[in-house]
Amino acid sequence: MTVQDRTTGPLTTEAGAPVADNQQSQTAGPGGPTLIQDQLLLEKLAHFNRERIPERVVHARGAGAYGTFTLTKDMSQYTRANFLTGVGKQTETFLRFSTVAGNLGAPDAVRDPRGFALKFYTEEGNYDLVGNNTPVFFIRDAIKFPDFIHTQKRDPYTGSQEADNVWDFWSLSPESTHQVTWLMGDRGIPATYRHMNGYGSHTFQWNNADGEVFWVKYHFKTDQGIQTLTNEEADVLAGKDPDSHQRDLRESIERGDYPSWTVQVQIMPAADAPNYRFNPFDLTKVWPHADYPPIEIGKLELNRNPENIFAEVEQSIFSPHHFVPGIGPSPDKMLQGRLFAYGDAHRYRVGINADHLPVNRPHATTANSHGRDGLMYDGRHGGAKNYEPNSFGGPAQTDRPLWEPVAVSGHTGDHVTPSHAEDDDFVQAGNLYRLMPEDAKQRLIDTLAGFISQVTRDDIAQRAVENFRKADEDYGKRLEAAVQALRG
Ligand code: HEM
Repeated sequence: MTVQDRTTGPLTTEAGAPVADNQQSQTAGPGGPTLIQDQLLLEKLAHFNRERIPERVVHARGAGAYGTFTLTKDMSQYTRANFLTGVGKQTETFLRFSTVAGNLGAPDAVRDPRGFALKFYTEEGNYDLVGNNTPVFFIRDAIKFPDFIHTQKRDPYTGSQEADNVWDFWSLSPESTHQVTWLMGDRGIPATYRHMNGYGSHTFQWNNADGEVFWVKYHFKTDQGIQTLTNEEADVLAGKDPDSHQRDLRESIERGDYPSWTVQVQIMPAADAPNYRFNPFDLTKVWPHADYPPIEIGKLELNRNPENIFAEVEQSIFSPHHFVPGIGPSPDKMLQGRLFAYGDAHRYRVGINADHLPVNRPHATTANSHGRDGLMYDGRHGGAKNYEPNSFGGPAQTDRPLWEPVAVSGHTGDHVTPSHAEDDDFVQAGNLYRLMPEDAKQRLIDTLAGFISQVTRDDIAQRAVENFRKADEDYGKRLEAAVQALRG
């Protein structure tokens, strides 16, 4: 075991007073009613009632571990981020994996994207990359996210996940065809958290010391190799061992078999973006490797389990807006929405001082903010002045933004995401289908047909099939036949 029992001395109350009897509550004589003066009893019952905080509205179910990122290629040509400068530089990390739709306690072995939320404790502050095991996503505008997630979670009337809702939304959102093809394919059920890749998914800005801008995508390639489960294997495992992924991660670290990922980036010079064949900021698209070959930059290893799941995993927070100098957002409309959503979720779920809990606070530097007080404030600022500018030697602004400005044009309004020469909702879904070997195509068709055949309305089922036909004629034809065979 890695966890040591550090307790010494007698059992005490929360206030530290010794406890005489933790087996019997105080009563008015033997057999009489319980006394209100039994503060230990009242304290225990009251504390127990408050043990849970709100679970994450998505990605509620997860597991985490600490690790090390080692830079193997100096990136200072592209970014001034300190942790990406100097070969051999090591940075402590914390990574939380998750499933998306299930509530806390749901089984791990399910067909669902996996979260890949990574915190780098850099010397310039924490940098969070809150990605998934998929390089793309279902939608391209944050305004659709709450509707999308409503269709993935429990229906307000039945209380269950409903195929009608899922396929109604996906079939009316054709931009989801690429990600749905990915999710329903072989990689849709990873065998463990260790046997899958991670992706930053969005395009981010890097900028170097001269202020030159690059657009970047991150890839984390598993060194354990990709391993997946079939539908049948997952059904059995989810029932037999709901904690399969969590247990696998913890046990592999306990036995010193540290999982690792090779870190790569695709880099696009800023000048390429306006005329690239795909909109480089559209989250439903990948950048084909032939256009921007992945460059290996480092190794991520997980080597330490958290000691306390509640303190370090449940209360961990990751924010796409946690940038460091040399890294910033792109105009991706999904990313822009996420820059708000996470901090807001953390203030609701963990509280205004969430950033200062041990797992969340900077480890390689200190936070010198003038934010003060609020629930559960620990007094960390002592008597320091709480305003800026001040004449008492307090911390001051640097006058250098973390990222470079982006040129914009046109009028404000509800604009659709700009389309580039080869953009449409289906081209990359079709490419992915055509890349699959025949047996993988067949499993994809069977899985999709299994789900679509559960839809109660023919028009929704037909509309769903049509999107896959637009991706590839053969894909649509085979799926239509498979759905018909199951629906009769
Ligand atoms: C506009 C779109 C999105 C919105 C509004 C959104 C919102 C949220 C919210 C509110 C949470 C819970 C945060 C918490 O309570 O700590 C969350 C968790 C998460 N989201 Fe998103 N999300 C979006 C899209 C995405 C995308 C595109 C990805 C991946 C590429 C992603 C990956 C994650 C991950 C990994 C977590 C779990 C973080 C953790 O382990 O604490 N989300 N999301």
